[in-house]
Amino acid sequence: MLDSYHFRSIILKTDIYLGAYHRIFTLLNNRHVVLITDENLASLYPHVLKLFPYIVLPAGEETKSLSRIEFVLNKLMEMKVDRDAVLLGFGGGVITDITGFVASIYKRGVSFAFLPTSLLGMVDAAIGGKNGVNFNGIKNQIGTVNQALFTWIDTSFLNTLPYLHFLNGFAELVKTSLIFSKKTWVNIQTNREIILKTKPDYLQSLIAEAVQHKMKLVEQDPYDNYHRQILNFGHSFGHVIEMTDKILHGLAVSKGMVAAIKLSVAAGYLSRNLAKEIIQEFEALGLPIDMDFKAEYFILLDQDKKQVNKNINFIFLKEIGSAMIENVDTDTLKKLAYDARSISF
Ligand code: GLY
Repeated sequence: MLDSYHFRSIILKTDIYLGAYHRIFTLLNNRHVVLITDENLASLYPHVLKLFPYIVLPAGEETKSLSRIEFVLNKLMEMKVDRDAVLLGFGGGVITDITGFVASIYKRGVSFAFLPTSLLGMVDAAIGGKNGVNFNGIKNQIGTVNQALFTWIDTSFLNTLPYLHFLNGFAELVKTSLIFSKKTWVNIQTNREIILKTKPDYLQSLIAEAVQHKMKLVEQDPYDNYHRQILNFGHSFGHVIEMTDKILHGLAVSKGMVAAIKLSVAAGYLSRNLAKEIIQEFEALGLPIDMDFKAEYFILLDQDKKQVNKNINFIFLKEIGSAMIENVDTDTLKKLAYDARSISF
């Protein structure tokens, strides 16, 4: 069983560690640290709050707003935090996004590090350097691309994670296997029962693998101009489903992956049998699969930030472990969705 892991990116000047979190003290090396967290974590882990001066924010997606950013900036000024400080984001994706964004603009930039507490944070949100807030009802419209000093993954924090939030991150792990590795997909299928017991120990090697796959792409394309967009598999529809249906990101991405799989079949890239097998496995894993291609999804897709010259870089699945990016217009997606409706999955 994997109990420690380290990915060093010399290109991006960031480190991802997996192991017991008390080792972050060596990395922080007498720096002036300010912890940023949310109310839920503050009550679950009061001993962590004793370690550093802190700022506590309300829990939930609404916190990812410019007004909260202003609140944190004011707090940092009040606390007389100077440029050699390290802001340590202790929480899920909302907290790490806020921390990375605030650190990138406070006094024109201070260092930041992440101690993610959710599975989604460990495999996705706290990795990659994109940190932002929602704006005018659209996700992650305002933000920065800037790498953390380090991300420290301690899976013992998953012990307090509610099951729905486990599934939220698990959907991203499943996504990684679908686009990169048939071996991992088979591993998930084979160990389904044990993985779903959500014991952190069993997740560590899957997390390390997801980190490795993601970091390699981020190294190639840190600003998300092309190559790393493969990670958006399931996210075009996922984002609009998240906005309209107000469900957790990973659960929306699960439905978004089902949409992308159906469109991949309609486009002739993926076999119907394989698509059926994947969707059945999603169901066995407890991931949501119900989705309709609603007209409003296409309206929102038009406004989506992935739109380039009226087109969308859409991610199609070719087989398990292999996906591709194709620049398509919304009308093509509508036509594929129409065709997908008459295919039985
Ligand atoms: N913060 C998530 C990413 O950069 O992909």
